[in-house]
Amino acid sequence: MVSSEAAPLAKTGGLADVVGALPAALRELGDDVAVVIPRYGSIDLKKARRVYDSPGIHLGLVRHSVSIYLAELGDPPQPPIYLVDCPPLYARKGFYGEAGVDYPDNHVRFAVLARAAVAVARYVFQTEVFHCHDWQAGLVAPYLRTTYANDPTFLGAKTLFTIHNLGYQGLFPKTALAEADLDPALFVPEGMEFFGQVSYIKGGIAYADALSTVSPTYAREIQTPEFGFGLDGALRARTGVLTGILNGVDYSQWNPETDPHLPARYSAADLSGKAVCKEQLLREFGLPAEAMNRPLIGMVSRFTRQKGADILVEAAADIFAQDVYLVALGTGDPEYEEFFRSLASDFPGRVAVRIGFDEPLAHRIEAGADMFLMPSHYEPCGLNQIYSLKYGTVPVVRATGGLDDTIEDGTGFKFREYSAAALSGAVRAAVAAYGGDSWRETMRRAMSRDFSWTVSARAYSALYAKLLGRV
Ligand code: ADP
Ligand code: GLC
Repeated sequence: MVSSEAAPLAKTGGLADVVGALPAALRELGDDVAVVIPRYGSIDLKKARRVYDSPGIHLGLVRHSVSIYLAELGDPPQPPIYLVDCPPLYARKGFYGEAGVDYPDNHVRFAVLARAAVAVARYVFQTEVFHCHDWQAGLVAPYLRTTYANDPTFLGAKTLFTIHNLGYQGLFPKTALAEADLDPALFVPEGMEFFGQVSYIKGGIAYADALSTVSPTYAREIQTPEFGFGLDGALRARTGVLTGILNGVDYSQWNPETDPHLPARYSAADLSGKAVCKEQLLREFGLPAEAMNRPLIGMVSRFTRQKGADILVEAAADIFAQDVYLVALGTGDPEYEEFFRSLASDFPGRVAVRIGFDEPLAHRIEAGADMFLMPSHYEPCGLNQIYSLKYGTVPVVRATGGLDDTIEDGTGFKFREYSAAALSGAVRAAVAAYGGDSWRETMRRAMSRDFSWTVSARAYSALYAKLLGRV
């Protein structure tokens, strides 16, 4: 697998959770998997072993000096994660940029990642299927189709490109093509050209042998103009090889019965620990003890338009006119960070917000809240609502993408129309149900749902086998 993130080493969102968990689930099924990610500045090489020194990765006349490290993780040992070490490119403060501005050489950084992954496949880990995630791994398939087309090492190798989010495309000026040392013949609308720019995500879409995305509903949605971000045509052209495979959950990390980040643990049979989690969460966020008997809504999110911040802005007055409380954790667009800050000052003692990325706190919110809100504009899969089910924290979600596929009427509250009115209607319905018998039933039903990786890993494994002509 080629990716820009893998938990626990490098995470900004759900992609990391997926790439951090799927390989082990595949290994259980007998597949031999390794992961390749960049060695960012935050990844400590002391816990890694150097396994390969490349004579240099050449993009045209520019040589990048790269070493490959093997991260030693886990007990029992996890499938190998190979780190591409190239400090001038990756040892920076951010993964993709700083202070909301993308690094100007991202086209080079992720071209080198693709070339390094090919080097890993040649020298370190014999590879039959390159499973590439999102635009950052979008160049693997184009390189294999052109630069390495006649290379005997990769004869018969297949590529699968998984789209986790069509909203991030890796768009660069036309000059990026030469800087990435890509064949100019790829710069056509059926290839990597996108309205005069070079699109790395189109590299994956156009040239991978198979495509997938992270829920069946999102697989359909991205083939429509409304959700296609201008790529619905390119995706429809490949509809025959595009499937939706729902993400799973790593219950070794997300389970209220064992979660080490919680002040108390609990299960469907004994929910008393959940009350302790709520009490402490309220205290941690400085919310009043009266909130113990009222609904506490939790949010953990990248603060972007994708996540529905704009309708929440509009619905806020109506929602907080009711006797409900909110704790939110997130980072992202400065305008939405500002919105959450002002929400907290407009509704003191009712809304509390932390701006930042804090994994243990994300777990404490999952456990301590009564409801979990995800009013996403679009959502390829979404993981937090699935974690919420397990934590008995009833999801209130917009019926889109994976949210629609994972939440049912008996396990959560859904609204369909993307509007402030529909959002506050769903919150009202949840608030009205809160505390009664039906609420406790909803919690128990939610907690009994099983989204473990095994089912999804089987689907990926079958897809690899099909690509290799083994079924
Ligand atoms: P996306 O990948 O679009 O951000 P997902 O729901 O698939 O959305 O996954 C988000 C993951 O990132 C979850 O594991 C969530 O807990 C985590 N996460 C998001 N924002 C934060 C944050 N500010 N602090 C800690 N964890 C976060
Ligand atoms: C993306 C999507 C999210 C999905 C995650 C993992 O970041 O926004 O919906 O769950 O990838 O596939």
